[in-house]
Amino acid sequence: KTIRIIGVPIDLGQSQRGVDMGPSALRYAGLSARLKSLGYQLHDEGNLYVPVRDSVAEKNNGGFLEAVQHVCQSVYDAATEAIAAGDIPLFLGGDHSLAIGTIGGVSAQDRVGVIWVDAHGDANSPATSPTGNIHGMPIATLLGEGYPELINIGRAGAKLSGQDIVMIGIRDLDGAERDWLKQSGVKVYTMRDLDERGMGSVTREALDFLHGHTRIHVSLDMDALDPNIVPGVGTPSSGGLSYREAQLLMEIIADSGKLTSADIVEINPILDHENCTAKVAVDLAASLFGKSIF
Ligand code: ARG
Ligand code: MN
Ligand code: MN
Ligand code: MN
Repeated sequence: KTIRIIGVPIDLGQSQRGVDMGPSALRYAGLSARLKSLGYQLHDEGNLYVPVRDSVAEKNNGGFLEAVQHVCQSVYDAATEAIAAGDIPLFLGGDHSLAIGTIGGVSAQDRVGVIWVDAHGDANSPATSPTGNIHGMPIATLLGEGYPELINIGRAGAKLSGQDIVMIGIRDLDGAERDWLKQSGVKVYTMRDLDERGMGSVTREALDFLHGHTRIHVSLDMDALDPNIVPGVGTPSSGGLSYREAQLLMEIIADSGKLTSADIVEINPILDHENCTAKVAVDLAASLFGKSIF
């Protein structure tokens, strides 16, 4: 099996500088070698073109809407090509706005179940967002709510329904975002659920929620983990997943045998110490792709 690495150095969906260096941080932390050691063929496509932030004129209320649209279109195309070739695309962010393209593309042919690992719901629309940042909007967009320019990337309309999505690690929702998510049909596991029931039980139930899906896409926002272990993220939220909880989550998903694509996003090396956030991400990727201890 071939893993196709696709870097997406986008920082246009949020307001901190540095998340465009995420793909480099992951490569520098040895991602390809780790995955190769598990027996995969690795094919690194390099990075997709993303305009440099300073070169893009910021629009008054849409932020970098048009530039994000163009990037997500090329991400969508790269995703459909990888799936058509029978490869497993692994997208390296960049901020979470890129998931509009990755998930849109991987769901072009077959229904795909999404496991969204995040502190945040990323289910704002332009009307509910307190920041206007598009990295807080990919879930709403994929469900057909928000900017038409982003909803209609690749093919017209919503790419998923609520029944296709499970969220794990949630602890930071905006008020109107929360109300919208509650009626969306998305299955949400908060930190409280994890504390009360444990990661093993929650992950098995999450996979059961997606039992009708033959393909699973994991979208791993590194801010799902506790900022004590991953300081290199732009929107940290305390009380997150421990290293061990995150590892268990990845291991149980791997056991399902249904992983066919993934994103690793929101790594910001400028905010980090000694690239430790990317190093944790590489450890998690190894487990997600089937590394077992014994
Ligand atoms: N809810 C906030 C917003 O909409 C934060 C979103 C953080 N998203 C992320 N992908 N890190 O602006
Ligand atoms: Mn255009
Ligand atoms: Mn997040
Ligand atoms: Mn996110």
